[in-house]
Amino acid sequence: MQLTPVGILGTGKYVPERVLTNQELESMVETNDEWIVSRTGIRERRIAAPDQATSDLAYIAAQEALKNAGIGPEDLDLIVVATITPDMSFPSTSCILQTKLGAKKAAAFDISAACSGFIYGLANASNFIATGTYKYALVIGAECLSKITDYEDRNTCILFGDGAGAVVLGPTTEGRGFQSFELGADGSGGELLKIEGGGSRFPSSIETVNGKKHYIYMAGSEVFKFAVRIMGNAAEEALRKAGKTKEDIDLLVPHQANTRIIHSALNRLNLTEDKCMMNLDKYGNMSAASIPVALAEAVESGRIQEGNCIVLVGFGGGLTWGASVINW
Ligand code: COA
Repeated sequence: MQLTPVGILGTGKYVPERVLTNQELESMVETNDEWIVSRTGIRERRIAAPDQATSDLAYIAAQEALKNAGIGPEDLDLIVVATITPDMSFPSTSCILQTKLGAKKAAAFDISAACSGFIYGLANASNFIATGTYKYALVIGAECLSKITDYEDRNTCILFGDGAGAVVLGPTTEGRGFQSFELGADGSGGELLKIEGGGSRFPSSIETVNGKKHYIYMAGSEVFKFAVRIMGNAAEEALRKAGKTKEDIDLLVPHQANTRIIHSALNRLNLTEDKCMMNLDKYGNMSAASIPVALAEAVESGRIQEGNCIVLVGFGGGLTWGASVINW
């Protein structure tokens, strides 16, 4: 079977207006700007308004991506939303978005792979296009992590922010677009990063809420060790599958969790900081939205040019990881 080459035709992003600074966090929990910046690289993050849900953020990012791709919502065959903060358990956030956009002919589903969700989404959607099932797909990473964060827990509340990033995928010319995907999971590490409450194991109740089981729990230093190992491994494997080497990379767009994690990946890949997109100082960790927002900003600012070799790499709860090599 002849596969169609698939590429990113347009990018878009949206972050809420409200900025939560490290200084403000100092008045909420026992922490300080110096600790947060030196341990994470984060200076501020965006927080959704009380009446904003994930699909609202996704909608604005999607409109920008569609405009940049030069297609309309009615052209979309598929919508995939990667999120761990859906508007509600069901219907899926992608279905809510489908009707908001008026993308009447698009199939729609959500992906739950935490911070790796956007790369899982790209791999899924691009296969539908490569095999000729669909022509245009919208892939979004969108999160309102502020709604599941305990602002009394200094281990987690300094890290997370809200935002949405979107891309439109479609057919491209031979030799361009996605060259490889590397996806993986290790469910044995699931306990390290989770929300226990509100599912079928611990349905929402007064007890789950009193026990704060509706908030993110994270074993930070364990996740850190996993992240340092997996970022380099996943990126190297994706390069190998694409028939490329570290020297070919023009820009690395990593998951924006922690500058120390990103620097360890840069060391492993022999890359200098100028070959890496970083914006976590402004936004913190936006889970599935981190990579597509960074990608959209890299395109907007001209850091990605036609012909560039771009490597996306991320890791997250599950545990999961993903990487992709793109000839832009
Ligand atoms: N302000 C001040 N001190 C803090 C703090 C905060 N916000 N959060 C934790 N501390 C304290 C801890 O209580 C601990 O104190 P102790 O030694 O007296 O017990 C000390 O700082 C060191 O904590 P530790 O957790 O070992 O720090 P760390 O260097 O591992 O950094 C993280 C913590 C969370 C920044 C780091 O582990 C991390 O980034 N992990 C990965 C997180 C991640 O990527 N999650 C998302 C996955 S997608």
